[in-house]
Amino acid sequence: MKNILVTGGAGYIGSHICVALLNADYKVLVLDNLSNSKVAVLERVKEITGRSLQFVKVDLLDTQKTAAVFEENSIDAVIHLAGLKAVGESNKLPLHYYRNNVVGTLNLCERMAKHNIKNIVFSSSATVYGEQQVLPIKESAATSPTNPYGRTKLIIENMLRDIYNADPDWNISILRYFNPVGAHKSGKIGENPRGIPNNLMPYIAQVAAGRIERLCIYGNDYPTADGTGVRDYIHVLDLVAGHIKALQKLVERPGIMNHNLGTGAGYSVLEIIAAFEAITGKKIPCEIVGRREGDVAIVYADCSLAKRELAWSVDNGMREMCEDVWRWQMQNPTGY
Ligand code: WQD
Repeated sequence: MKNILVTGGAGYIGSHICVALLNADYKVLVLDNLSNSKVAVLERVKEITGRSLQFVKVDLLDTQKTAAVFEENSIDAVIHLAGLKAVGESNKLPLHYYRNNVVGTLNLCERMAKHNIKNIVFSSSATVYGEQQVLPIKESAATSPTNPYGRTKLIIENMLRDIYNADPDWNISILRYFNPVGAHKSGKIGENPRGIPNNLMPYIAQVAAGRIERLCIYGNDYPTADGTGVRDYIHVLDLVAGHIKALQKLVERPGIMNHNLGTGAGYSVLEIIAAFEAITGKKIPCEIVGRREGDVAIVYADCSLAKRELAWSVDNGMREMCEDVWRWQMQNPTGY
């Protein structure tokens, strides 16, 4: 299984996965529509690894161009990351999210089936869990997504399960990401949100860099130690390592599997701010404002299944997450 198609490979998670795949001697073909990424990222990937990769600018909704990718390339497995992922935006544009995420994945799976390519690692999200009473969250927890983005991820998970039930020759890994943060240690690739960041860590980095005046803390009246939201932040390099392990597992133990990729530790917004200030020496001006619609109080993973079944471990703590985000931010003040 050497030839890997990475959909969304020019994105934040995707570019880090391409680095890891190239370093592990896989051949990489990136498919990306560049709707939320820049091709410049792939030059950085080549710089970091000293290796080349192939790139096709294709939208999975373009069935003809997607079919051509499969006709013209040798593909052994797919790591499927392409998708829209802004929770707030999905509330405003549900049809855009269902079409892009669900129909795009449907097109991809139909092409895979036609070419008898039955190995896929799918980028899912902890958002499928919604509000959970029992913490940490296990993979067996009931899913109850609270927004269209999360619901598209759950629909795709169930589509993959149905594909497997109809044809157990498929080998499927579903990975539920908690909160990916951080950047490659070189500072050459990192999270490069368009416009004002939705997510906490890139927002804090831009405040620290003086690009944004202050951080708005969305509520301090949650049932948590300091009243602010608690999340399971995982370094992107650890998240990526989980993908490589899952890809290898598909060969070792065929079938369908589902794993949480988190650290098992929860940090509040105030704790993240304090950690970032301590590590960078930068003061983060902030203001408490009202809660953000759709936010839940506490989310963190039980990641013991992935540690056991994938022989995967987490190597980076909060210090590395903040240091690596800051290095990326300082080396790329305005992104790519
Ligand atoms: C984290 C905490 C906010 C911004 C989402 C998706 C998830 C994944 C990661 C795609 C919360 C608080 C944030 C800010 C704040 N994305 N916050 N001020 O919402 O946990 O998860 O992004 O896969 O699927 O659901 O991440 O970073 O937006 O928020 O106070 O300006 O920071 O309230 O408590 P979230 P986040």
